[in-house]
Formats: sequence, C-alpha cells, structure tokens
Amino acid sequence: MRRGALLAIAAAAIAWFVPAAFAAEPAAAHPGARVYAQHCASCHEGGVPKSPHKMFLQLMATDAIHDALTVGVMQAQAAALSAEQRQAVAEYLTGTPLAEARNRPPLARCTGAAAEFDLRDSPAKAGWGMDGDNSRFIPTDVAGLGAADVPRLQLRWAFAFPQAQRVRSQPLVALGAVYVGSQNGTVYALDAATGCVRWEFRASAEVRTGLVMATWPAGEAPGERPLLHFGDLMARVYAVDARTGELVWSVKADDHPNATVTATPALHDGRLYVAVSSLEVSTAADPKYPCCSFRGSILALDAATGATAWKSYTIPEAPREVGRTRVGTPILAPSGAPIWNTPVVDARRGLLYAGTGENYSSPAGPTSDALLAFRLADGALVWARQKTAGDAWNVACMLPDNPNCPVEDGPDYDFGAATIHARLGERSLLLAGQKSGEVFALDLDRGGEPVWRRKVGRGGIQGGVHFGMALGGDRLFVPISDKDMAARVYEQPARPGLYALDALTGRLLWESPANDVCGGRPFCSPGIGQAITTIPGVVFAGHMDGRLRAYAADTGRVLWETDTTREVSAVNGMRARGGSFGGGAGPVVRRGLLLASSGYGIYEHMAGNVLLAYSVGTPAASTAATAGAATPVGTTSSATAPAAAPGSSAAP
Ligand code: HEC
Repeated sequence: MRRGALLAIAAAAIAWFVPAAFAAEPAAAHPGARVYAQHCASCHEGGVPKSPHKMFLQLMATDAIHDALTVGVMQAQAAALSAEQRQAVAEYLTGTPLAEARNRPPLARCTGAAAEFDLRDSPAKAGWGMDGDNSRFIPTDVAGLGAADVPRLQLRWAFAFPQAQRVRSQPLVALGAVYVGSQNGTVYALDAATGCVRWEFRASAEVRTGLVMATWPAGEAPGERPLLHFGDLMARVYAVDARTGELVWSVKADDHPNATVTATPALHDGRLYVAVSSLEVSTAADPKYPCCSFRGSILALDAATGATAWKSYTIPEAPREVGRTRVGTPILAPSGAPIWNTPVVDARRGLLYAGTGENYSSPAGPTSDALLAFRLADGALVWARQKTAGDAWNVACMLPDNPNCPVEDGPDYDFGAATIHARLGERSLLLAGQKSGEVFALDLDRGGEPVWRRKVGRGGIQGGVHFGMALGGDRLFVPISDKDMAARVYEQPARPGLYALDALTGRLLWESPANDVCGGRPFCSPGIGQAITTIPGVVFAGHMDGRLRAYAADTGRVLWETDTTREVSAVNGMRARGGSFGGGAGPVVRRGLLLASSGYGIYEHMAGNVLLAYSVGTPAASTAATAGAATPVGTTSSATAPAAAPGSSAAP
C-alpha cells in the first residue's frame, strides 16, 4: 500500500478512537505540558492503580479538571502548583481555555409548578431495557402513544447540552422530570413538560450511561427517598437524590487506570449490577504501552449504600507477562473481555447474563465475545458460551505495522448490545446480537445451549448489531449498522437497516434496508448503531444519518421520520442540532412524549448535542419555550390508552 494511504488510515484510526492521546502531541510547547510531565505523568500514564489514564483526563471538561486540582480529589497533588500552573495544566489536557469552559450559557431554571417533583410519579419500569428483560418494549399504557399517533408527532421542546458533541445517556422519565446525563459530566433533571432545568449535578466526567431508579406503586409516594443511579467515564458509580440532585454515595467500580462504565447499570431487588468496560483498547495503540492489563467485570452494589456485595471478572486469572513485542514491550495476558451492555437479571434461575467484547492481547481466551451467566447470589461464573473464538484485537491493529497488535488481529466482534431474556410461551431464550451482524438464541433451561443463529448484517468494528435490539411479542427487531471504516476492508457488501426475525426460530420476517440519504456528507452513514425501542405496532430507530424513523412493526414500512440535524432553538437558550444517533441512548416513550438523543461526535460520526422531545399536538414554539410555564399539551388519540399530559401528576 502507498505510504500516503497508510498515513491517512493511521490518522483516521487515531482520530476515531483516541481524539488526542497518541495523535502526536501538538501541544508539547504548551506551558501546561511541562507541569503535566513533572507533576502528573508519573501517576496518570498507566502506572498507578486508580489514577485515570491521561486519555480520560483529555476527555474531561477543563473546569472539571481545574476543580479537581483546586477543590477536589487532586488538591494534595496540586498543592505545590501556582494558580497559573493549575490553569495551564487543565487547559493543556483538554485544549479548551478555562474561561470558555466556565462561561456556560445560563440555563432556563424552572419556576412554579414546573419546578416541583411529583413523588407519586414512579418510573414506569426500572432500567435501560424498559423492563427487567431488556426487551426495550414499552406497553401502550406507559407509552401513551399508539401507531396511529406517530405520523402526527411534532417537536415539543429541545434541550441543548452545553460543551457536548455527543449524547450517549438514555433519559429516564420519573417524578414528572426527565433525567439525563451528558458529555461534560452534568446530569440534569428537566421538567418533562417544558424542558426547563430543575437541578444539575456534576459528575467527574462524561456520563455515557442512562439513569436508573427503583420503582414504587404508581400513584403512591415512595417509601424512601428516590435515588438516581448512573456511572461515568472514570468508572465512578453514583447515587443521587432524585428530588434535589444531592450526592448520596459514589464509588469507583474498578482500580484499573483505563476502566470505564458505558452500560447503564441494572437495578434489581435493592442491588445495582454494574458492568465494567475500559478504554485500554485504545491505549494499546502506543507501542511502548504494555498491553494489556484490564479485565472486564460485573459488580453487585447495595443500591442504598454503594457497598460492594461481589465483583466477578469475565476472565478468572489475572494478567501476567507472557512475552515481549518485537520492540521489547511486555505483552500482558489474558486481558480484555470488557462488558459494555446492561446485564439482564433472571430472578427465577438466580442468574444474570451479559455479553463480552474481544481480548486485547494474545492469546485469546474462552470468555471473549461470549455470553456469560453469573450467579446473582455471589457472582460465580456459571456458564460461558463463546460465539467467536480467537478474537484478540486492539486499536494498534488499525495502525500500520504496530507491534502492539496481537498476532490474532481479530475481527473485534464484541457483544455490545444488551442480551434480551425472551419468554416465549414455555421457552425461555436469551437473544444476543453481535458486532459480527449475527444474532443468537440460547436456551436458558439448558445452560445456554444454542437454539438458532442467523446472520443478519455483514458486521464490522462498529457493528453489525452495535448497541441494542428490541423484542415485541415474539418478534425480534434487529438494527444493523454495517458502517464502513477507512482502516478496514470488508469483502461483503454492507446491509444497513432494520430487520425483523421470528424470535422462536430466527426466521426472517421482513427487512427494511436503509436508504442512503447521506449524499457524501462527512461522517454520515445510513445504518442504525443506536439502541432501538418498540411500542405496540411501531419500532423507533435513530439512524447514523441523523434521521429518527418510526417503522411499522408488522411490515417494516417507514411510518414517520424527521431529520434531527436541522438546527432548532433549545429551551435553554442555545441553538442546537443533532447528528448521528449512536450509543446506548435509545428512544424513550412515556405518556405521549417521545424522547430522542441525537449527536455522536466520536468514532467518525456526525456531532450533535440535543435531546429532542416530540408529542402529538402543540408543536414547540420556535423561540425558547417559556421556562416554568405549563404549556397545554395535546393528548394522543390512542384508542387503547388515553394519555395524560407529560409532567401531569396523573401517574399511570
Ligand atoms: C501520586 C499519584 C498522582 C499524581 C501525582 C496526580 N494524580 Fe491525579 N489522580 C490520581 C488518582 C489515584 C486519582 C483517582 C482518585 C480517586 O478516584 O479517588 C486521580 C484523579 C485525577 C482526576 C480525576 C478526578 C475525578 O474527578 O475523578 C484528575 C482530573 C486528575 N487526577 C488530574 C491530575 C493532574 C492534572 C495532576 C498533576 C497536576 C495529577 N492528577 C497528579 C493520582 C495522581
């Protein structure tokens, strides 16, 4: 291959996974670079447990780093630094001036009734998967929206996330509020009816997970103060008072410098099950980095206190040195098998299921790209069903001739999408979609014995199936991304779009290939990467071309679509626009309000920073909606469930 082409690929690969870390150090002359080298690097480049890798610091907001040095956990380490040095090192790490980071536009605060939390409004169901089974199916009485209403959906309000190019946190509707996390680490409680801000909470770093809250009987007050749970990029897990935004507890889920929490934790019976992933897959692109020492894990925490009940690794043995690369860097193994999908709890069998990603170093082991069952009581690994063997891969493999690429140079076929527990009459199946584009059904009464498998998409580093399928009755809806990557050549043609399978047999019921409306627009691609959601008769899917589409569940016909890349005025006084839909933040529907998170400025996708709320009836005013004013809401015409207004106190 020509050298120019190789360099272009290398640049694309680096920009894709590692925004600034190893892509040269253009800021080496920056006054903060010296401060960093002398006072921070010894701990923050992988050597010291618990200290987040430099790569994470670079993904933080400048003011958050500055706060850590001045009033937060790094005060002692920064004690010898002058005010100028603290500012310089924070600005050096992020590339953004402190003043700019602090100068956030004032957000519209709720006043009057819009500011009040309705304690009788219990969350409809606990969790990312819309029910305990990760089906992502929302029944009509919760959705308050029927298939007939969908073509009349209109934008009701939009909220622009400050300092954000992507929106990965799935919103939660409860207490008349919409709770959502964001890239700069702020978690918001917004009034569901108008989008004004009730409170803000600042986590250490980006909140990629959705939010979970325990449920209580609808129409009653909760027995205890309602807690919101989520995780952040630094692998910190939080419990925050849902009424005030006050921190109740926070724990670090893993000591590894590259550990992160991407999946929304699962909440069951007073326990929070946290899946731990990492960005070491990217750190490994540095040929001097000893790859790799991270192992995926699941943690069971007491939801009330944060106390650890158990922690169980996806790879039982700890990594050790197994050899050296040709440039003399130690190879550590076994490693990898991260978990970045929400586990599903099977209370009847006393098990919890989750899928793993690839190994980071060679040799690959038996629990990567696998479906694992852990015992709820103590975390013991009960069974493992590997679907792709020999998959050792890391970002070094996307760079020409990088010695840290494992000999396997695997396909990177993680299970990124959450597994679904399908209860189909007598059968209990675990349904799992892989980045390979394949879907698997396992028999839960026979220790995960295979029932059927079906190749739906071509597959690739960004899926295949990427973040989440949905199950409506016995119909499994499979979103396919099949995004092409500059650094990898695929022989088979891409098959982006939405597919429906018979969940019992894997038979293809219909296919709805995605139209390519990108017209060569940079970072635009037609497929579906984001998790999808279904209500009776309809599947909602956000595409990587920025369109939110509603499909007929029985035919795959597009019933409605809207282009979220158009600029809109947000209730918080900023102009906002969406971009690609990506990550785990699938559409949420409650009481006639459809919430969609648009923008995925990472991994070669279109940036955007908006949470969009649609309903049937009154469209949003073109100017900022008045904070605090309870705008009358159009109700839906759904015959099965007359919907109450969003934010109304009539909790279903
Ligand atoms: C002696 C080792 C050490 C040194 C030196 C050090 N750090 Fe840290 N740093 C840590 C550890 C350990 C943590 C994690 C603390 C925790 O999670 O409780 C951390 C956390 C952080 C965080 C994240 C805080 C958060 O909100 O989670 C930032 C930002 C940070 N360090 C910046 C710096 C900067 C900038 C410097 C240099 C001025 C520096 N650190 C020097 C060990 C160190």
